[in-house]
Amino acid sequence: MTLAELDAQQAQSLSEVAAAADAAALEQVRIRYLGRNGLLPAIVKQMKDVPAAERPEFGKGTNAWRAALEAALADRLASVGTVKKEESAFDCTLPGRWSAPGAKHPVSRVIEESAAIFARLGFTVADGPDIENRFNNFTALNTPAHHPSMDASDTFWLTDDLLLRTQTSPVQIRMMTQYRPPVRIITPGRTYRRDTTDATHSANFHQIEGLYVDTKPVSLADLKSTLAYFAKEMMGSKAGVRFRPHFFPFTEPSVEVDFSCHVCAGKGCRVCKNSGWIEIAGAGMVDPRVFNFVGYDPEQVFGYAFGFGVERIAMIKYGIPDIRWLYENDTRFLSQLA
Ligand code: PHE
Repeated sequence: MTLAELDAQQAQSLSEVAAAADAAALEQVRIRYLGRNGLLPAIVKQMKDVPAAERPEFGKGTNAWRAALEAALADRLASVGTVKKEESAFDCTLPGRWSAPGAKHPVSRVIEESAAIFARLGFTVADGPDIENRFNNFTALNTPAHHPSMDASDTFWLTDDLLLRTQTSPVQIRMMTQYRPPVRIITPGRTYRRDTTDATHSANFHQIEGLYVDTKPVSLADLKSTLAYFAKEMMGSKAGVRFRPHFFPFTEPSVEVDFSCHVCAGKGCRVCKNSGWIEIAGAGMVDPRVFNFVGYDPEQVFGYAFGFGVERIAMIKYGIPDIRWLYENDTRFLSQLA
C-alpha cells in the first residue's frame, strides 16, 4: 500500500463516521477499521512489505489516522446522542420508581390495636420470655402434675424443667411475683403447642393475656364490662359478649367468652356457624391458690384474668379463612390488607 492509498483510506473512514446516523452504525465503522480484525491493524501488519525508505512516513500516517478516526468516532457519538455529556442521566421529569408500599401484618395490627384499647382502660403491656419453666407455665398456675397439657405430646419440653410456653399466662406469675397490687397488664406474645398445622391450628401462635388484681373488690362484672368494651372497640359498636361456664386450673369461676358475630350481628351466618356467637377467649377470677403461689394474700386481693388468641381475632376481623396465610409472607395476600 502506498502513502496515497493510505490517505484515501483515511478519508473514506472519516466520511463513513460522518455518515453514521446512530451509535450502532458508529460501532460498525469502529469495528471495520479499528476492531481486532479491522483494516488498520491489518495495514500495520503489512508494514514490513513497505519499502524501508517509506516506512517512517507510513508509520506516522497510520498513527495519525488512528488518532483522527478515534476522535471523529467520539465526536460523532456525542452528537448522535448516546453519550450526553452535559445533560446528565438524571431527568427530573421522569416518573419516580415505584416501590410497593408495605402493609402491617394482621397479627401486629391486632396486637397494637389491643394494646391501644386496653391502654384506655389503664392496662400497660408486660412481656415475658418464650422459654419458661415448669413453675411459671404450670405449677403456679395451679395446673396439677398429671394434667394432660403437660404431656410431651402437647408441650415442647426443652429440659425436665424448661419448655416453650404453651400460653401467655406465665407472665401473670412473673408480674405478681415482682409487683404488689394493683396490677393491670396485658401481655401479647408467642405461644407454642404441639399441634398439627391445619387451617385453624398452628404450633406457634400468639396470645394476649390480661390480668387485673387489686386490693379492693374486683368482680366478674368488671371482667365482663372490660371485655365488652374490648369487643366493641375491636369488632365494632354492635359487638356484644356472653360468658359460658368453663374450667381453667388458674381461674375460679372460669368462663369461655363469646363475641356476638360481627358479620350477621347475631342473626346466624356461615362465619358463626349459625349460632350468632364466636368463641374468643378464656377468662375467670384468679384462683386463690394462684395468689398463694405468688405470695399474695388471697383474703386481701381480688382479680380477674383473660386470654385470647391473636390469630383468631385477626382471622375473624379480616375474614382470613386459613391461619397458614398469616405465616407464609405471600405479598399478594398481605398487600390486599394494605
Ligand atoms: N391461658 C388460657 C388458654 O391458653 C386462656 C386463659 C387465660 C383462661 C386467662 C383464663 C384466664 O387457653
